[in-house]
Amino acid sequence: MPDPIIRIDNIIKRYGPLTVLDGLSMQVMPGEKLALIGPSGSGKTTILRILMTLETISGGHIEVDGAQLYHMPGNGGLVAADERYLQRMRAKIGMVFQHFNLFPHKCVLDNVTLAPMLTKGMARPVAEKRAMELLDMVGMADKAKSMPAQLSGGQKQRVAIARALALSPKIMLFDEVTSALDPELVEEVLNVMRKLASETDMTMLLVTHEMGFAHDFADRILFFDRGRIVEEGKPDDIFRHPKQERTQVFLRKIIAAGHRV
Ligand SMILES: Nc1ncnc2c1ncn2[C@@H]1O[C@H](COP(=O)(O)OP(=O)(O)OP(=O)(O)O)[C@@H](O)[C@H]1O
Ligand SMILES: [Mg+2]
Repeated sequence: MPDPIIRIDNIIKRYGPLTVLDGLSMQVMPGEKLALIGPSGSGKTTILRILMTLETISGGHIEVDGAQLYHMPGNGGLVAADERYLQRMRAKIGMVFQHFNLFPHKCVLDNVTLAPMLTKGMARPVAEKRAMELLDMVGMADKAKSMPAQLSGGQKQRVAIARALALSPKIMLFDEVTSALDPELVEEVLNVMRKLASETDMTMLLVTHEMGFAHDFADRILFFDRGRIVEEGKPDDIFRHPKQERTQVFLRKIIAAGHRV
């Protein structure tokens, strides 16, 4: 058995008096496709943001790809990670959010080449060649010179995926990447993610309300409620035979709301 690529150990996350994650532990294996589901406010986005080091943590440890995420070696033990260390760790992880955050004044191609050129010192011709391959993969090569404002939501989201991939992350995080899209644009984005899942050995964590997609995409489903993993298992087990009452209630509500399972 290989070592987990992500080890979350007893994480505590507070926002002022509110404890959002209270001793959360979980592990993700290299190449694993994981879907995080659960009610609004259960802490799914918080976990992804913590992995992306966009948050601070109130307690616990996280190891990513064999190194501590929020701590670095120092003083004969571990000390809080500094910004340089965090930046290096961050390069292992790519994230795509619900609201596409493309740079509005840069064309599609520049959106994808900017980070590799700035953070990895990649030469422009190399960055552009790689960017065109990625844009081709997400079906956006013909829009390389377009500005974000000229794209549909689904197209923007596909560019955002290409941009995150440009840093060759080992881990990709997707937070409800289709939930701000018009229904007819959802499928084109899901298709790109299906392709990524089947054609790469990247580790992928997905937060979604699309239960049908979670079922097809994931090797394992984690059901969250109030900052805790209530139940986890293979998609068929979670969706067809949920054991916990809270999981059953959640899935019933989702189905009643018209989502396919
Ligand atoms: N910056 C913040 N300041 C204070 N509270 C926050 C902050 N961000 C999140 N929270 C709270 O943390 C809890 C978990 O939020 P989180 O966004 O992780 O939930 P979620 O599972 O992603 O929900 P949703 O499905 O609605 O996206 C919520 O109670 C939320 O109000
Ligand atoms: Mg969320």
